Amino acid sequence: MKLFLDTANIDEISEAAATGVLDGITTNPSLIAREGHDLEDQLIKICAVVDGPVSAEVVSTDFEGMVAEGRRLAEIHSNIVVKCPMTLDGLKATRALSDDDIPVNVTLVFSAAQAIFAAKAGAQFVSPFIGRLDDIATDGMSLIGDIVGIYDNYGYDTEVLAASIRGPMHVVEAARAGADVCTLPLKVFRQLLKHPLTDIGLANFLRDWEAMAVKVAGSG
Ligand code: G3P
Repeated sequence: MKLFLDTANIDEISEAAATGVLDGITTNPSLIAREGHDLEDQLIKICAVVDGPVSAEVVSTDFEGMVAEGRRLAEIHSNIVVKCPMTLDGLKATRALSDDDIPVNVTLVFSAAQAIFAAKAGAQFVSPFIGRLDDIATDGMSLIGDIVGIYDNYGYDTEVLAASIRGPMHVVEAARAGADVCTLPLKVFRQLLKHPLTDIGLANFLRDWEAMAVKVAGSG
């Protein structure tokens, strides 16, 4: 499973990229707005840090606007993936951009039916929002398994990108369900590699090693 970071913050991206396990980035208009910089400048900076897909979302809501915006975004860097919302116009724009070999991530997906449409429109990625479904007392994770199963039934190439991830178990469960990608906030990225038994085990190993070194030095 690929791991993406869900942020437009360069410090966060640099920290995650330094681990060597970061495969890409997803942004959305809210995350870009939080940084307060020009969109194009920010995307260029992100693409300089991460060698992988970088999703950048259109803000137009009509077909022509989305296609024009998507083409402009795609020109910024070869790693840009254009994010289109799961609307009728977004679906048409996904088809048009995909036909032009511009990769599209269909976002704001909340049902398997929407995911079928995204795949049929040629999307490179589909982004079901797990956490936002959980927020309304719906089982977000079951959607990942549903989509993976349906895509397998028909051999769709669209990658299932689990989004709106709120904690480490979302990542583990998405992996169990067969998600191709998980996009995480930095907080979850950091939490994933921690285990108290690792820390305790390492402290014990080092304590024993030190004790042996003291013993050897004393016997010599
Ligand atoms: O980038 C899309 C998605 O990951 C947003 O997550 O936490 O705002 O629901 P969240």
